[in-house]
Amino acid sequence: MRETYAIDLAARYLGVDLPHPIGKGSGQLSLNGAQLEDDAAAGLACVVLKTVIAEDETGAQAMAAWAIHETRMKVERRAATGERPGGRTGWTVTWKGRGWDRSLAEYLALVRTGRDLARATGMLVVPSVKYHLPRLAEPFRDGEYRHTTRRLAAAWGEPPLLLEKDFSPTLAGDALSEDRAQIVRWLREVPERIREAAPLPVRVAVKLMNARFDDAFQLAMMDAASGADALVCFNRLFDETEGVAYGGWDLSDRNLRVLDRYRLRPPATARDRPLVGTGNVCSGRALLAYAQRGCESVQLHTFFQLPLSQFPATHGSRTQRALHALVFDPRDGLVAGMLELEAQGKIERRGGELHFLDVASDAHRPH
Ligand SMILES: Cc1cc2nc3c(=O)[nH]c(=O)nc-3n(C[C@H](O)[C@H](O)[C@H](O)COP(=O)(O)O)c2cc1C
Repeated sequence: MRETYAIDLAARYLGVDLPHPIGKGSGQLSLNGAQLEDDAAAGLACVVLKTVIAEDETGAQAMAAWAIHETRMKVERRAATGERPGGRTGWTVTWKGRGWDRSLAEYLALVRTGRDLARATGMLVVPSVKYHLPRLAEPFRDGEYRHTTRRLAAAWGEPPLLLEKDFSPTLAGDALSEDRAQIVRWLREVPERIREAAPLPVRVAVKLMNARFDDAFQLAMMDAASGADALVCFNRLFDETEGVAYGGWDLSDRNLRVLDRYRLRPPATARDRPLVGTGNVCSGRALLAYAQRGCESVQLHTFFQLPLSQFPATHGSRTQRALHALVFDPRDGLVAGMLELEAQGKIERRGGELHFLDVASDAHRPH
């Protein structure tokens, strides 16, 4: 990219430099070593492992309802709400499952595989955890925080331990999340709980859910999570009628709208957490829309699961074909999008090169 196009795609996640901004979000596509190896060979910048459900030393899981087994997934089209026939149709993965459904020991083995691959290839691999979330009057189960974090730290070895804390769409749809004060308390306290539980320095990315409240509450959640080292914005929407999480254009519309409001608030409001985008990143252009709202990298799931017929490349792994389309599509790819931003005067060359991170840092400049 640098030689041919003079474009530097360097990006960032949890303070780690990445060669480019495209990572894989936690889910069914990061469950085993073979998937990780394919991703590293394809040149993905970062993979977040499937979310494991925390447990204490006796194996008790307060969030056990999330450790259920479900394999059947359906990749299907989903039209944006309120659009006329012929309007924007995106993709969603319909799935009734939740978190990691095997043992913690098996998850730790995957973490070790990820660590070895990360050291050998430079692709960042990060575990994801769902820890106990209490009702307002209840205490946090520190035993789960301590045990799970220590085991992960031991599996990873070298500090710092990077991890993601998942607030999932099924959690947003659960009775636990009917109370705003309760959600705000979780977001205020969870990063510190994890830090206290860790025997070594830890960096925590909080992956925020799309709560079933208005946009102002999304901003309140971002503020409440100010103890996090990064915010991943925002996990899928929850369809209450169908009882399933979903994505597509409704998801990216909402996420970008909230990130816009976050970015455009008066300077006095706290908003210094590094941001990561997730939700319907289906082209370089969609990726740049997140970057223009301050996201330093992105995490995709659905795009990596599309039928092969949706990719212009005729060979290579799914991840390779997806990366190829995201970067090189002549109209909607990252290269085309970066050159367009330059032509519009929104980014400028430094040292002869365009820099992806300039798009993200420019989002915070007063306009
Ligand atoms: C089948 C499926 C399983 C997922 N599982 C998890 C999970 O365990 N933990 C998590 O943090 N996010 C999970 N996600 C969310 C994705 O990582 C991603 O943030 C979200 O789907 C939005 O990105 P997308 O529109 O590119 O799919 C899952 C998504 C899908 C489709």
